[in-house]
Amino acid sequence: MENKLHPKVILVLLTIFLSTSHSTELQSSHTHTLLRIKRLLNFPSVLSSWNSNTDFCNTDSKASQTVVCYGEAITQLHIVGETTKPQQILPKNFSIDSFFTTLLRIPSLKVLTLVSLGLWGPLPGKIGSLSSLEIVNMSSNFLYGKIPQELPLLSNLQALILDNNMFEGHLPDWLDSFPSLTVLNLKQNLFNGSLPDSLSSLTNMRVLSLSRNRFTGSVPDLSRLINLQVLELDDNGFGPNFPRIGNKLVTCVLRNNKFRSSLPDNMSSYYQLERFDISENAFVGPFQLELFSLPTITYLNISSNKLSGMLFENLSCNSVLEAVDLSSNLLTGKLPKCLVSHSNDRTVLYGGNCLEETKQNQHEQAFCHTEAIAVGIVAERKKRKGVSKTVLSLAIVGGIFGGLALFALIFTIMIRRGNGKSMMMNSQTKLISENAASGYTSKLISDARYVPKTMKFGTVGLPPYRAFSLEEIMEATNNFDTTSFMGEGSQGQMNRGQLKEGSLVAIRSVKLTKSCRTRDFMQHIEMISKFRHQHLVSVLGHCFEHYLDDSNVRRIFIVFEYVPNGSLKTWISDRHYRKSLTWNQRIEAAIGVAKGIQFLHTEIVPGVYSNNIKITDVLLDQNFVAKISGYNMPLLSNMGKVGQGNPSSIFKSPSLKQNVKSEDKSDIYDFGVILMELILGRTIKLRNVDTLKDLLQSSITEDDEARRSIIDPSIRNACLDQSLKTMMEICVRCLVKEVEERPSIEDVLWNLQFASQVQDAWRGDSLSSDGSPISPLPCRRANFH
Ligand SMILES: *[C@@H]1O[C@H](CO)[C@@H](O)[C@H](O)[C@H]1NC(C)=O
Ligand SMILES: *[C@@H]1O[C@H](CO)[C@@H](O)[C@H](O)[C@H]1NC(C)=O
Ligand SMILES: *[C@@H]1O[C@H](CO)[C@@H](O)[C@H](O)[C@H]1NC(C)=O
Ligand SMILES: *[C@@H]1O[C@H](CO)[C@@H](O)[C@H](O)[C@H]1NC(C)=O
Ligand SMILES: *[C@@H]1O[C@H](CO)[C@@H](O)[C@H](O)[C@H]1NC(C)=O
Ligand SMILES: *[C@@H]1O[C@H](CO)[C@@H](O)[C@H](O)[C@H]1NC(C)=O
Repeated sequence: MENKLHPKVILVLLTIFLSTSHSTELQSSHTHTLLRIKRLLNFPSVLSSWNSNTDFCNTDSKASQTVVCYGEAITQLHIVGETTKPQQILPKNFSIDSFFTTLLRIPSLKVLTLVSLGLWGPLPGKIGSLSSLEIVNMSSNFLYGKIPQELPLLSNLQALILDNNMFEGHLPDWLDSFPSLTVLNLKQNLFNGSLPDSLSSLTNMRVLSLSRNRFTGSVPDLSRLINLQVLELDDNGFGPNFPRIGNKLVTCVLRNNKFRSSLPDNMSSYYQLERFDISENAFVGPFQLELFSLPTITYLNISSNKLSGMLFENLSCNSVLEAVDLSSNLLTGKLPKCLVSHSNDRTVLYGGNCLEETKQNQHEQAFCHTEAIAVGIVAERKKRKGVSKTVLSLAIVGGIFGGLALFALIFTIMIRRGNGKSMMMNSQTKLISENAASGYTSKLISDARYVPKTMKFGTVGLPPYRAFSLEEIMEATNNFDTTSFMGEGSQGQMNRGQLKEGSLVAIRSVKLTKSCRTRDFMQHIEMISKFRHQHLVSVLGHCFEHYLDDSNVRRIFIVFEYVPNGSLKTWISDRHYRKSLTWNQRIEAAIGVAKGIQFLHTEIVPGVYSNNIKITDVLLDQNFVAKISGYNMPLLSNMGKVGQGNPSSIFKSPSLKQNVKSEDKSDIYDFGVILMELILGRTIKLRNVDTLKDLLQSSITEDDEARRSIIDPSIRNACLDQSLKTMMEICVRCLVKEVEERPSIEDVLWNLQFASQVQDAWRGDSLSSDGSPISPLPCRRANFH
């Protein structure tokens, strides 16, 4: 294969060779230079025949050392060290700089091969002075540092081969200074960053090998590289989209990257394709059946992706196929007969799918359907509007256990949204009449008349919203006795209390610094009364305390439900004194928090964003239902502004609406941090988030074992890998730097729901089989004092 790959290189060598057949005696200065090179290379055995009597231009060429002359000038120098032994690095006193200084004495060099010689050091910029160079092959040395800035001086360069060194840094964006470049081989170095767009203009390129580096990001548009035959990008971090490539491609290796798009639907136009390896990515969508029958295909490896679709027995395939690897995808149907028929001289692997085959481990049909639905969601993420439709139809087609639940969820979201809007309109019209009637005294305020009518009905098992009297508040907290103190934050002091009928509450007191009348707050109260949801620490009511002299408002008390089981933080890592949450309980908690965020964003109008939710703000009730506390309640967060003019301006402020997009995503980020804490089982400092995100990211592509090794030990053996992986993936996506790239809260919910369902299904099986049942946590009573 290797030799076949570089016809151009061979051609160039050949041409130069033939044109130099009549060589002349070398100038003595050149002899001197070559002997000096031998010495600088520490007398390698391949140059043992070189001495002061050697007629360099007229010796037989050998693979390991060749000098080619043209007239008086040396045009080619090939020195190839021992390639069989492990590579030896040149001693400490070797200087790459003096070595190149010596090479500069042969300015006529067009072809330079210095392979496996143990060269070490950064490639000196003075290589730019060898301006005749057309082919440079310095593979398998120990060269490091960045590609020198002076390289573009080599404007005749046709092949640059630096594979198997230790070069690092970004690929410079002056690649377009080499218009005749046909071969760029940088395999196995430490290059990182994304590829420069200038790559798109190298229209003569035939071979582009960037395998085994640390490149990331999308592959620039290569469709203008109409001569490109070999594209090797394996073992990097490229993604997410399948690269745009011209149709002359012969070899395409994208193995082990971060591609997660679908395959282009014009695969059949790659009529010269021989080797197609896209294994170990996350490609989704339908597998292109035409690939089997491309006219020249010999090697096809799509293993370890999420490609779906049905295979048929009657498909046709190319008889020259040598290896086909379909393993670990989501394929259904029957293996094509034509693949099996030549099975003696052909490798055919297809395990880990849902095919109707008895050989090579297959999953149940349902597995592939469920998975295909899950990845379908991810794949369609860009087309926001199409999401629910796609998923709906998939769910119907799938018709399996996950389907119905997903359907129900969409349905609820839609219905809820509709209701939220109409509710808002009602309350706004009502507000006008209420404002007109608003009174001034404490007695009047505690009157039920001033409780927003929409909130008089209980929400999710909560008592109806109401106004509390000051007496009630004082009694509940025992006159704000120090034993009732819970804490104090920017949003005022928090005390716990017990109401007469016995229920426990948490009371926030907000002291006003400016003089305000009760009526100034009616709009706020209307707003506050809406913070009632199963996954919020809900508001039960409010109370005003007035100054006796002028009846201005002195304090506002906001009465919340009391959530007894402490914060999520205390339940995530193994403690000696109690069990930590199971994997399923963690997913449930995450779903709760996501639903709470969704409520804040979409069901309160205008949406409440930038809630700055930390794991310590997520409280668990007696049934381990997660509830968000400390959300961005407008009255509290804008307290400073209250009294400076019209407080209702807070609600009308246009910035609230305009910034919705990005504010929305800051909650997604915070949610990502909480997910990470649930997975890793510890609290995480903000400055460590990026590092840990990278850790999660890379563990996603590794094996099951590696993934488990980094998570909370107390859940390590109790979570299904697919569930864990889904959670990790959504976590990483929530934490991406580019705000627009973060998923919507609906997207997040889908994925969590999926993770929960696969886990549930698995838990059902495993209870009997692996003997490690997951016992539910005993419910804890509120511990009040
Ligand atoms: C480098 O050191 C070796 C001995 O370790 C010596 O033989 C050689 O001549 C030295 N090379 C140069 C270029 O000084
Ligand atoms: C570089 O030179 C070595 C030794 O001659 C050869 O084996 C290898 O194929 C060359 N690399 C390329 C990409 O031509
Ligand atoms: C690339 O590598 C260099 C050093 O090798 C490092 O300083 C730089 O931060 C890396 N860049 C990226 C984007 O990883
Ligand atoms: C296939 O389509 C993509 C764009 O959808 C294009 O970039 C690519 O060049 C096409 N390939 C062939 C071989 O036509
Ligand atoms: C397909 O690719 C996978 C992963 O890169 C590899 O392990 C497997 O051996 C390949 N299959 C064949 C038949 O070469
Ligand atoms: C192959 O079989 C499938 C169903 O088994 C059928 O729908 C399709 O028409 C067949 N295709 C050909 C080319 O016979």
